[in-house]
Amino acid sequence: MRRASVPVRGYRNLDLYGSLQPPIYQTAVFRMVGEATKSDRGFDLKYSREENPTLRPLEEVLAKLENGEDAFAFNSGMAALSTVFLSLLDANSVLLVPMESYGATLRLLSSLEKFGIRFNKAYPDTEVFIEEMKSTKPSIVFIETITNPTLKVFDVPEVIKTAKDLGAVTVVDNTFATPMLITPITHGAEVVVHSTSKYLAGHNDVIGGAAVVSTKELSDVMWVWRAMLGTIMQPMEAYLTLRGVKTLDVRFERQCKNARAIAEFLTEHSKVSDVIYPGLPTHPHYGIAKKLFGDKFGAVVSFRIRGGRSAAVKFFESLKLITPSPSLGGVESIATYPITSAAAPIAEEDRKILGIDEDLIRLSVGIEDVQDLMEDLDQALANV
Ligand SMILES: Cc1ncc(COP(=O)(O)O)c(C=O)c1O
Repeated sequence: MRRASVPVRGYRNLDLYGSLQPPIYQTAVFRMVGEATKSDRGFDLKYSREENPTLRPLEEVLAKLENGEDAFAFNSGMAALSTVFLSLLDANSVLLVPMESYGATLRLLSSLEKFGIRFNKAYPDTEVFIEEMKSTKPSIVFIETITNPTLKVFDVPEVIKTAKDLGAVTVVDNTFATPMLITPITHGAEVVVHSTSKYLAGHNDVIGGAAVVSTKELSDVMWVWRAMLGTIMQPMEAYLTLRGVKTLDVRFERQCKNARAIAEFLTEHSKVSDVIYPGLPTHPHYGIAKKLFGDKFGAVVSFRIRGGRSAAVKFFESLKLITPSPSLGGVESIATYPITSAAAPIAEEDRKILGIDEDLIRLSVGIEDVQDLMEDLDQALANV
């Protein structure tokens, strides 16, 4: 099956009656006489905190899209991340993460220090990060393919190769890039994580997460930890997420195209002092992005507004079409103020180094007509 068909058709529908859409098994329990029956992948099917067949088509598609051995759906991106880390870490673990990561992820991973786990962070640039790997000798390396909100791009294959040389496991959050730009497991990552609340579900209407694993051993471990922690996705969310995933390829194509046009438009705007987009040759990691992603560079654009915080607030107030809100990845465009949302948990001194200041605005570009988006940005900037 060719890649564009995978989100639409990349699963088996085991329904007895041949319904085109896989059924929703809205049930807490399954009939069990003595031993439990098994799900299609051989795990116990008895209680929906452990395994529910509604999730399986979604998990199959995600495993295929990310080139993994198996996938697990969770009730949020953070549920996926916490389950992955709790399953992989032990008392002797040493973590290395980029100082710019999703705020709640940084909070979670730094909180693990209370269990004796050593937590190290490094600037999100491949060379600096690799140097830090060599000096801190981590047992687990975590990266986000494209960071948030300054959109740094890691040379994913290089980071994974160094991690392997050092005997470390690599976990990649591929939420921003999606498997349409890169599949880190192909380059040797052990686990790929997603907030499916973003591009995969794609409609700003459902919270979810996923972990795609590279081996059967990791699959067994993940299944047990998901069941113990109770972090599994619910059936209705799985249905909505699969429904969203089916259009991932076409949505993301349009979103990337719109984002590139908006990045170019903002570059010319007098109220904007800087535009950050991996598809602009001025971006410090443009070369890496081009090498890894080809001709698509994601659908998030960050920019700096002239006039600092008061200008930013006026801009958000003035938007008529684009919604001022956290989150990203859906069909509706959203404008976010990183210092009060996703980047708030990043240490102040790190925010200074990264340039996450009061003038920074992040746009998640949707699938609206790009002219409407540009007109809205233009009129909101004119009000500043
Ligand atoms: C890159 C990234 N990873 C993980 C998460 C957490 O996902 P969720 O909000 O679905 O728990 C987010 C949420 O914004 C994110 O942007």
